[in-house]
Amino acid sequence: MARQKTFFTCQQCGFQNPKWLGKCPDCNQWNTLTEEQSQPQQGGRALPAPGKPQKMAEITSTAEDRVSCGIAELDRTLGGGLVPGSLILVGGDPGIGKSTLLLQAIDQLAKTGTALYVTAEESTRQVKLRGERLGATSQNLYLLAETSLEQIRKRVAELNPDYLVIDSIQTIFTNSIESAPGSVSQVRECAGQLMILAKGEGIPTFLVGHVTKDGSIAGPRVLEHMVDTVLYFEGDPGHPYRILRAVKNRFGSTNEIGVFEMCSSGLREVANPSELFLAERPEKNAGSVVVPAMEGTRPILVELQALVSSSSFGTPQRTAIGIDHKRMALLVAILDKKVELQLAGQDIFVNVAGGVRLDEPAVDLATIAALASSHLNRAIESQTVIFGEVGLTGEVRAVSQPELRIKEAARLGFNRCILPQGSLKNITAPKEMTLVGIRHASELLDLIFN
Ligand code: TYD
Ligand code: MG
Repeated sequence: MARQKTFFTCQQCGFQNPKWLGKCPDCNQWNTLTEEQSQPQQGGRALPAPGKPQKMAEITSTAEDRVSCGIAELDRTLGGGLVPGSLILVGGDPGIGKSTLLLQAIDQLAKTGTALYVTAEESTRQVKLRGERLGATSQNLYLLAETSLEQIRKRVAELNPDYLVIDSIQTIFTNSIESAPGSVSQVRECAGQLMILAKGEGIPTFLVGHVTKDGSIAGPRVLEHMVDTVLYFEGDPGHPYRILRAVKNRFGSTNEIGVFEMCSSGLREVANPSELFLAERPEKNAGSVVVPAMEGTRPILVELQALVSSSSFGTPQRTAIGIDHKRMALLVAILDKKVELQLAGQDIFVNVAGGVRLDEPAVDLATIAALASSHLNRAIESQTVIFGEVGLTGEVRAVSQPELRIKEAARLGFNRCILPQGSLKNITAPKEMTLVGIRHASELLDLIFN
């Protein structure tokens, strides 16, 4: 009898070693190696039909191939709808609303075809109860409580659904390998087999993935490489707002976000996020400024807040939530050196209201304005929005899409916009909007206060 091979796999990154190690040499995490048995049987997989070379010019594809999920914010995040045969991973903290979102989506999809929701965590009755609350009543929506991948494949072959949801990838297992469900090998193998199913049969498949403590999807990174699209569902459990963000998308941009509100009847789309993010803005308060940021193709107005206070300790604190920490340090240094505001020895906190993350340099100028406003304890003129990139010498540089940003600001009743001089070229602004172009960050302070 052949001896069964055991090996140790890092549950964080998928690294394998014949011996146990306390620390994974690949990802440097402690105590992540667990024992697993026997390799996946390579011959056991059903391979898709062999392909043959085709002329690219002769392959037809149309935008209509995409299917709408019936939830505009989800379609937007997917890059304009669901692509046939695509495999989509939806990650997020427990209780954030992944199951709710996918049940609502599959219910809408079931209006155009047969849909199967595989629940490996909850019973069909629990899902039904939730479905009732969400108003999910489609006739063609099937539920299956099953954790065995082989059984799931059998049922899929019988039912031949047009859409498939697996909730969640960590709770299903395949018999072809002996490791426990949720272990790296299992997750990888199950995802691989589901990919072959999705691609081979052309069934768009959603996988729910749990996230680990540090926020990445549990299981190996390979999971993210295997699938076509990775969506993260984020939000503060204390707030009703949820943001769906694409971090990888083979069929569209990764900049798009979808905004939802969790209410008693499930997730509600938020079509005008700017209004939402500005709803609780304290006007006439020092340290608050409104910035028109771009999230993908959509401009969103958000409030950026700064608090500068003298530090009671030797090393002042610097905390940034929603913007890059290093970027903030750089802007503080520019303020110090080029605008001559003495911020050394001050505790500095920057926060983007509403839990939004702003990754573009266009928020530089607004960050500087908020810091200066808090430091000088003078409120920024409340009908003004500010955007622009700031370079290391304090120069203000042009950014993309100035016109869209200005239009969104005008739509929400702002009447003045401070922007880079370089962005003023060839733009037409709404009549009620006054545009003020600047070239250097030091010009900002004379413009923003009442
Ligand atoms: P769920 O979709 O089960 O989260 P996940 O699958 O990501 O773990 O969402 C559970 C949370 O959503 C729960 O805390 C209650 C809340 N919720 C509502 O507020 N309203 C609703 O209609 C539903 C279905 C859930
Ligand atoms: Mg769930």
